[in-house]
Amino acid sequence: MFQLDIVTLFPEIFNLTLNKGVIGRAIKNDLIEIREWNPRDFTKDKHKTVDARPYGGGPGMVMMYEPVCAAINKAKEKHKNSKVIFLTPQGKQLNQAAVVEFSKLDGMILVCGRYEGIDERIIESKIDEEWSIGDYVLSGGEFATLVLIDSVCRLLPGVLGGKNSANEDSFVDGLFDYPHYTRPEEINGRLVPNVLKSGDHEEIRRWRLKHALGKTWRARPDLIESIKLNDEQKMLLQEYIEEFENL
Ligand code: ADE
Repeated sequence: MFQLDIVTLFPEIFNLTLNKGVIGRAIKNDLIEIREWNPRDFTKDKHKTVDARPYGGGPGMVMMYEPVCAAINKAKEKHKNSKVIFLTPQGKQLNQAAVVEFSKLDGMILVCGRYEGIDERIIESKIDEEWSIGDYVLSGGEFATLVLIDSVCRLLPGVLGGKNSANEDSFVDGLFDYPHYTRPEEINGRLVPNVLKSGDHEEIRRWRLKHALGKTWRARPDLIESIKLNDEQKMLLQEYIEEFENL
């Protein structure tokens, strides 16, 4: 069973969202276990203080060392092998390759920050890795944690229905997914490409690869630059570019 421990001031966010859909079913089927730890429950003062003003001044508040670390320690008691991850815009940027690596772990302890941040000494002494979901700022780590949980859990054995569902995803080979079509055949003059109705599996594979390459090239030329295309991929992309430029 994959262990997820979430350290958060807002556990309700997770109860509402994770009990649904693919992840909800995985929890019911005992493929993953999710527990939440609220630093507020680990405070010792009567006001249950979790944040304080930053040394050096400046706006906002900083999450305090003691309650956050006590929550992490509690999560670790049962799951010593879990990796402790802090979600922060100052982390390495998440991508599908990293998600695949996370899915091979025993579990993760996910620390969500709020306010201006968390005391740096929590990061120094308790956090194994810092990860960001992109170059923009959220008001807390909770939604980033949900993104990480969703992307990792759907790769765990037994979580997705079809055996190959995850293998055919976008980014598995560093490219976008190919375009999908279903009934009806015509919508306001827009037709399903003939090749997809031909039953010719090799032609369908080539068409899908070509359009996966083309979509990636149009939106993310940097991704195309970063992967080494094989001869077939180079040829199909060239074909796509020529057709695109003659449109
Ligand atoms: N917390 C706030 N913004 C974030 C981001 N972009 N990624 C991860 N955690 C965050």
